Amino acid sequence: MRPVAILISGRGSNMSALIEAASADGFPAEIALVISNRADAPGLANAQAKGIKTLVIESKPFGKDRAGFEQVLQAALDAHRIEVICLAGFMRLFTAEFVQRWYGRMLNIHPSLLPSFPGLDPHGQALRAGVKISGATVHFVIPETDAGPIIMQGAVPVANDDTADTLAARVLGVEHQIYPQALRLLATDGIKIDRDVTTNTAGVDANDCLIAPTVI
Ligand code: GRF
Repeated sequence: MRPVAILISGRGSNMSALIEAASADGFPAEIALVISNRADAPGLANAQAKGIKTLVIESKPFGKDRAGFEQVLQAALDAHRIEVICLAGFMRLFTAEFVQRWYGRMLNIHPSLLPSFPGLDPHGQALRAGVKISGATVHFVIPETDAGPIIMQGAVPVANDDTADTLAARVLGVEHQIYPQALRLLATDGIKIDRDVTTNTAGVDANDCLIAPTVI
């Protein structure tokens, strides 16, 4: 079983979904550690309540010294023999060196169908663009923000009267489904990366499709 660290900065609902999934019999990865870069992250208490070890490594005192923060982070990851990192609402950018070191072993989730709408306010971006389907993406982390080999995506319809908040809530539901599935795929060696594109062993039916809005 691969020891996994989840990195959070906030409420940690994706963290909770990962912990929940990993607690099931036969899940191929173990959530060994939750690390927050903020002592006040609400997710910390939820992880502790589920019996997961937590660590706080405050990033603020490091200011722009990203490498200094990463040195402490890497030491904690080494001490727990972590093999996979899941970023779950972790609001701190990494140096290219750190990202390269973890290439293929560090996952992120972003609440849009990448490569559309990376960065801040993805739901506002989606609404302004008028897309009819949005969703979430689990991807390997590369130095560019909200980019990298895509592991799994989940789609939801966009309603005419959606606000950024209502769309965010719908997308969050699909986030909680795809993040555990993506970790499962990775932990069972079901993903191959070739030139920054993944292929996976979980087949899809070529006739399956998702259309929104549906016309009756
Ligand atoms: C999620 O929408 C995730 O996709 C994004 O940040 C949010 C974190 O939410 N990267 P939570 O802390 O997992 O509830």
